[in-house]
Amino acid sequence: MAAILAIESTCDETAAAVVVDGERVLSNVIATQFDLHAKYRGVVPEIASRAHLENILPVIRESLAKANYSLEQLDAIAVAHRPGLIGSLLIGVTAAKTLAWWLDKPLIAVDHVQAHLFSVALEGNARVDFPAVGLVASGGHTALYHLRSFLDLELEGSTLDDAVGEAYDKVASILNLGYPGGPIIDKLALNGDPAAIRFPRTFLDRDSLDFSFSGLKTSVLYHVRGPLGRDEPKLTDQQTADIAASFQAACVDVLREKLRRAAARFNARSILIGGGVSANRGLRAAMKDFPIPVLFPRPEFCTDNAAMIAGLAYLLLESGKTSGLDLDAVTYSQIK
Ligand code: KG4
Ligand code: ZN
Repeated sequence: MAAILAIESTCDETAAAVVVDGERVLSNVIATQFDLHAKYRGVVPEIASRAHLENILPVIRESLAKANYSLEQLDAIAVAHRPGLIGSLLIGVTAAKTLAWWLDKPLIAVDHVQAHLFSVALEGNARVDFPAVGLVASGGHTALYHLRSFLDLELEGSTLDDAVGEAYDKVASILNLGYPGGPIIDKLALNGDPAAIRFPRTFLDRDSLDFSFSGLKTSVLYHVRGPLGRDEPKLTDQQTADIAASFQAACVDVLREKLRRAAARFNARSILIGGGVSANRGLRAAMKDFPIPVLFPRPEFCTDNAAMIAGLAYLLLESGKTSGLDLDAVTYSQIK
């Protein structure tokens, strides 16, 4: 049995969790920063890192208290060290390194995006048949993987511009709906007509597994404001709902088609979908009749959390993949 304390601070959530054997989640504490960033309609890196600094120790303390664990009882410390915002990453990585050094326990470095895929398996939610295709759809990523296992995977496609969650957030901003936009558009779309406006679907080349969402976002902007940006039309609630539903239909069509292509190319036996956008009801409904099982995380594990970091860390620990105290944080731009 191995109990791992994991820390997540890659973007704008400070999170810590204690997970046993990569599956049993004893605690999953998240301090969100939505309120701090909402007026800027997006994450402000400097504000995020300052908030992480204030939150990190209380969040770690709370995760231990909820799990009823002392630091000494832990078997290892894990941290999401890539990819993310440098100031945010450094808070979590420094805290994890300090704990690992002080307690003399193994340190495990986890890739945040790959951990989103593991979130489908937390709490015995799903058994995954490999080979699988994994999609991480969030505010920072639209990444498509071919997985032979959770530790043996290749990135096969990613976005050329905006991430799909980012497009949701920007469209919500165009419609003056608030931040983060994904959950708001998801809800509005329930009352809208997905066929009301035919927004473009960008599939790129026939074989491409990459994504592009900036054209779709611009198309919504032109629809709302006119091509010269002069018009400020007052939209009725129904018009707003129709735009939300039509935009969402375009996103879902693209994601579904890319998953279809990837599943065929890699003879996938299951599809894993993680990241904030995996909570989306339109996407979940559209994947219901997919020919192979499509696995989604439980709602609490869709958006950023530390339980998924602890889960993947357990597999890394079992295969001896621990890190030294010289572990570095790796930013988005260092990976791209
Ligand atoms: O995974 P996450 O918490 O953070 C990143 O790693 O980026 O994802 C946050 C993103 C935001 O863009 C948010 O608008 C989107 O996920 N999101 C959703 C939904 N819930 C969150 N998008 C569509 N539908 C949702 N229900
Ligand atoms: Zn994430």
